[in-house]
Amino acid sequence: MDALELLVNRRSASRLAEPAPAGEQLDNILRAGMRAPDHGTLQPWHFFVIEGQGRERFSQTLEQAATAAGQDEKGIEKARTSPFRAPLIIAVVAKCEEHHKVPLWEQLLSAGCAVMAMQMAALAQGFNGIWRTGPLTDSAVVRQAFDCREQDKIVGFLYLGTPQLKASTTVTVPDTTPFVTHF
Ligand SMILES: Cc1cc2nc3c(=O)[nH]c(=O)nc-3n(C[C@H](O)[C@H](O)[C@H](O)COP(=O)(O)O)c2cc1C
Repeated sequence: MDALELLVNRRSASRLAEPAPAGEQLDNILRAGMRAPDHGTLQPWHFFVIEGQGRERFSQTLEQAATAAGQDEKGIEKARTSPFRAPLIIAVVAKCEEHHKVPLWEQLLSAGCAVMAMQMAALAQGFNGIWRTGPLTDSAVVRQAFDCREQDKIVGFLYLGTPQLKASTTVTVPDTTPFVTHF
């Protein structure tokens, strides 16, 4: 797929099913994440690939987190079932370190760029997905499950698979005027 066409017309997809990217396709996605812009070459990220039994573990983690947060039955059920909305999820944790030249916010942005790069690499290979966070992302239960130290931050859960709804091939051309100033 042409890179410019992909970037200008891309849409996220939330209804996702098998097949998920696998093998070389998944490797390409992870490599694209590793090529995110990265001040100081700190590689301030860790990627957790969640599939198969991993989705069951993630489901249990979210269920525990929702229970600990005092959510009602409906909320707990929603949390428990949410990992099954896609066959593959990549959790991206920003692994931040105090650095003399690279502030924490730059490291967070690098990890965020990794999410976007991986979503685009999925799209380029005929898949799609959606970047999600949600209210439980910062819960102690979820943070512990993804080995977060105090300075780390879960920046996203990238849900990936084969889109179930045919996305329009073009999006409305945005009016960039209010967002752009030629300085
Ligand atoms: C950091 C971050 C967190 C997000 N979390 C959610 C989320 O929890 N649920 C959701 O529906 N969309 C979430 N989104 C937005 C979707 O990824 C997506 O961009 C949005 O649905 C708009 O669709 P589009 O990408 O096709 O324009 C998040 C986006 C970002 C950048």
